[in-house]
Amino acid sequence: VRAIIQTFFAASTDGAISFEYHRYEELRKALVSVWLQCPTITRIYTIGESFEGRELLVLEMSDNPGTHEPGEPEFKYIANMHGNEAVGRELLIYLAQYLCNQYQQGNETIIDLIHNTRIHLMPSMNPDGFEKAASQPGEIKDWFVGRSNAQGVDLNRNFPDLDRIIYINEREGGANNHLLQNMKKAVDENTKLAPETKAVIHWIMDIPFVLSANLHGGDVVANYPYDETRTGSTHEYSASPDDVMFKSLARAYSMYNPVMSDPHRAPCRKNDDDSSFKDGITNGGAWYSVPGGMQDFNYLSSNSFEITLELSCDKFPNEETLKSYWEQNRNSLVNYIEQVHRGVKGFIRDLQGNPISNATVSVEGIDHDITTAKDGDYWRLLAPGNYKVAASAPGYLTVIKKVAVPYSPATRVDFELESLMERKEEEREELMDWWKMMSETLNF
Ligand SMILES: *[C@@H]1O[C@H](CO)[C@@H](O)[C@H](O)[C@H]1NC(C)=O
Ligand SMILES: *[C@@H]1O[C@H](CO)[C@@H](O)[C@H](O)[C@H]1NC(C)=O
Ligand SMILES: [Zn+2]
Repeated sequence: VRAIIQTFFAASTDGAISFEYHRYEELRKALVSVWLQCPTITRIYTIGESFEGRELLVLEMSDNPGTHEPGEPEFKYIANMHGNEAVGRELLIYLAQYLCNQYQQGNETIIDLIHNTRIHLMPSMNPDGFEKAASQPGEIKDWFVGRSNAQGVDLNRNFPDLDRIIYINEREGGANNHLLQNMKKAVDENTKLAPETKAVIHWIMDIPFVLSANLHGGDVVANYPYDETRTGSTHEYSASPDDVMFKSLARAYSMYNPVMSDPHRAPCRKNDDDSSFKDGITNGGAWYSVPGGMQDFNYLSSNSFEITLELSCDKFPNEETLKSYWEQNRNSLVNYIEQVHRGVKGFIRDLQGNPISNATVSVEGIDHDITTAKDGDYWRLLAPGNYKVAASAPGYLTVIKKVAVPYSPATRVDFELESLMERKEEEREELMDWWKMMSETLNF
C-alpha cells in the first residue's frame, strides 16, 4: 500500500511537464494530475461530448473554482478545434501545469493572475479529429486527416455566420452586439451544427467571457477580426469597430513570441502569401476570408473578444519539438491572459444599489456595445485613450462619463442609474412642493 501511495504522490505532485503528445486518456490524466496537485485553485468540468462521445474537457483555474465572482473577468483558451493541429492542445496542458507549479512556488505574477481572473482552458474542442490524426502511422501526418470532426464538419466553418448579419446591420441599422440574443432554441434545433459547435455556443452564452483565443497550427501569426470580408472577396482588410484594440491584443501575443514577431521569418512554405502579416499579426479578412468561424462568432454573439493564434508551420510536428514550442509561447500565453485586465470595468446599479444585469455599455465612436453580467459587472476592453462611456438600460436614465484609459490596468468606473419611475416620482414631488408654495403664497 505504501508503495502505491508513494507512486500516486509522486505522479500527482512532482509537477514536471511531460513534453509529449497526450492521447485522449492521457489528456484526461494530465488534467486530473494538475487538479490533484492544485485542488484549491482548479476544477475539471465538461461542456458536452464530441460526436463519438469523447468529453470536451475544461480545466478551470481561479481562486474560487466553479463560480463567477462579481467583478472578476473570465478568460478562455480553446485549442485543437482542427483535430490535426496539435501544438495548441499540448501547450494548454503544459500551461495548466506551469500555472499550478508557479502558483505553488509563490510566483506573485501568477498568484495575482489566478486570484483576479477566472481562467478556462479547453485543450481539445475536437478530440475525435485528434485521435484520427494521431492514429496515422509514422512521423509525417497528412495535412488534412483529422481536421474535421467525426462527421466531416470543419468546426471553424460551422458557427452561425453572424458577419453577414452585422454587415447588413452596419448599412441598414440594427443591433451591433449579441446578435443571437434569445435564439438559444434555434441553435439547439439547428441540425447543421455539430455537437462540438453547439456545446461551445452554449458555453459562450452561459459564461460572461471577456477575452479568449483559439489555438491553431499551419502557420505562425496572431489573427484578429473580422475573419470574413464585407464584400465576399478572398482577401480584404475587414476592420471591426474594435480594430485598434484587436491589433493591440494580437500584438500582446506576438511580441513575446520570438518566432512570430521576427520580421525576417521566412514564410512557412515557399508559396505562402504572408503579405498581410506585420509584427506577427494579421487581420483575418486581409489574410483570407473565413465564413462561419469561431473568432467572429464570439465577438458578435457575446462580450468576448477573441483572436486566432497560428502557432506552428507544421500542424502535427515531431514530439521532440514540443518543448521548443512551449518555450516560444509560454510568455505569450501568460501575457495574453493578462490583457483581460485592460480598458474600463465596474458595476452598473440602480440608486438603491441593486445590480442591473444586461445593461448596455457604449463607447462614443465605437459601434460595438457590451452588456453587464448577472451582478451588474462589466468589462469593456479599450486601447489607451480618452473616451466617453455611456451606461444605459431600459427604464433608466442614461449616464455618460468621461474616462481616461491607460495601457493597463483597467480603469474602474461604476454607474448609478436612476429609474424613470423614480424620476417621475421626483417630478411629482417637485410639482407638489411648487403647488404647496404657490398656494401658501397666494393664500388660497
Ligand atoms: C513568474 O511568472 C512570470 C510569468 O510567467 C515569469 O515571467 C517569471 O519568470 C516567473 N518568476 C519566476 C521567479 O519564476
Ligand atoms: C437584454 O436586453 C436586450 C435589449 O435591451 C433585450 O433585447 C434582451 O432580450 C435582453 N436579454 C435578456 C436575457 O434579458
Ligand atoms: Zn486551424
